[in-house]
Amino acid sequence: MQKDKSFESDELEADIQEVVFTASEIQQRVSELGKEISKDYYNLNPLFVGVLKGVLFFMADLLRMITIPVEVDFLAVSSYSSDARNRGMVRLDKDLGTLITSRHVLFVEDVIDTGLTLNYLLSTLRTRHPASLEVCVLFDKPRVRLIDIPLKYKGFDLPDQFVVGYGLDLRERYRNLPFVGLLKSQILLNKISESDTSR
Ligand code: IMP
Ligand code: MG
Repeated sequence: MQKDKSFESDELEADIQEVVFTASEIQQRVSELGKEISKDYYNLNPLFVGVLKGVLFFMADLLRMITIPVEVDFLAVSSYSSDARNRGMVRLDKDLGTLITSRHVLFVEDVIDTGLTLNYLLSTLRTRHPASLEVCVLFDKPRVRLIDIPLKYKGFDLPDQFVVGYGLDLRERYRNLPFVGLLKSQILLNKISESDTSR
């Protein structure tokens, strides 16, 4: 298995079938995104908005690559019934502490699949009349998209497979892996019966 020598965890890595993106590949891409965003938002004092908790790692690494003044804030959401979830509706558990009217807002996401949740959150933020509202996503699963969302910045395309690491979890586990990987099939089989509602 390709991995970083500085990271050793028999317990977590035992569940990984295959590494999809190594820690250094991720860091390289995040650094490129940081440069691009710093250039585009020069003099605009952007506000980066993330949804807890999955985006924590990407947000922290991306912010460290931003070379202009920037502010950050977070939303926390949880799912309603599975029917509401199917329409992307979520309950806002924690709203932004920042007024976004007339601000340049960059919505930072770890992964987008159907796009329903993100679409719902973007509509909510749009009612507050930001000066601009764009999306930066690290991992995109374009094949499962149900709704078209323009993505201004994108890290990587992912196949339609469940991955963990670098913030992405399976029932709160594996977020702290520095790489992104596929889980072994027996671990995934256990997942199917339960629905994962954490972000
Ligand atoms: P959607 O775009 O509304 O379908 O929801 C995306 C959410 O599903 C993300 O914020 C993640 O919490 C979760 N998610 C999607 N794909 C994965 C994955 O491969 N691993 C872990 N979580 C995922
Ligand atoms: Mg999750």
